[in-house]
Amino acid sequence: MTTTSVPAGSTDLPLYQPLSHALREGTREVHGKAEGMAFIEALMGGRLGQDAYTALAVQQFAIYAALENAGATLRAAGGDHGLVFDELTRLPAIESDLAHLIGPDWAARVELLPATQAYAQRLTACSSDLTLYAAHAYTRYLGDLSGGQVVKRMVQRHYGVPDQGVSFYDFPAIHRLKPFKDVYRERLDALPLDDERRAATVAEARVAFRLNQAVFAGLGERFVAA
Ligand code: HEM
Repeated sequence: MTTTSVPAGSTDLPLYQPLSHALREGTREVHGKAEGMAFIEALMGGRLGQDAYTALAVQQFAIYAALENAGATLRAAGGDHGLVFDELTRLPAIESDLAHLIGPDWAARVELLPATQAYAQRLTACSSDLTLYAAHAYTRYLGDLSGGQVVKRMVQRHYGVPDQGVSFYDFPAIHRLKPFKDVYRERLDALPLDDERRAATVAEARVAFRLNQAVFAGLGERFVAA
């Protein structure tokens, strides 16, 4: 066990703990902020319409296209260390949701927020950097497997979205979510990252949460009344 001190400014966490713990602790505060964003609260509280959920799905299309393209490139180069799972791939499900929510011409009607474009741009850098990829994949996939399940229930309850519009939140190739999340955390903990790169991973996960917050802020401007 090492107790090497942390590079200034990157994180205040003791890095002798497993990376998955450091990520959870290091993003606890930003997670709370993301959950408390006006758009998310209004969406979860049933105060918006299906159009707001659709706009969120559109942003997720661009985000996952970039994330999964980066993951595929990293894996093809042999650099993903088992962190890219086919079971997690979201892009086909989002495309199918959008075809249902918008119609067969959905691709021609995608409107991305500037915050989404900035997020996607950051994700393209993940294709050559395990540290960046781990941070962003952790933030999205463990979120989808956790709070995402609550989002699915709420949008179905409040907005009557049928199953064909929320398949993004379904993981048919994963039998039970909890044990899968444990395996994912084990893979994170086994990554060959030294203390400095683990600190950078936690710092980048915070960036990932902030990029998500910026997308929610953009959606809030559009859908949540002042
Ligand atoms: C609707 C808002 C949200 C709710 C209700 C919510 C709820 C939750 C809950 C209950 C957990 C714990 C699950 C468990 O113990 O296994 C969790 C974990 C997590 N959530 Fe969220 N969440 C929300 C938004 C977000 C957002 C916007 C992100 C990031 C984009 C996110 C990322 C994560 C991550 C990465 C974890 C895993 C934490 C860990 O165990 O390391 N969540 N969420």
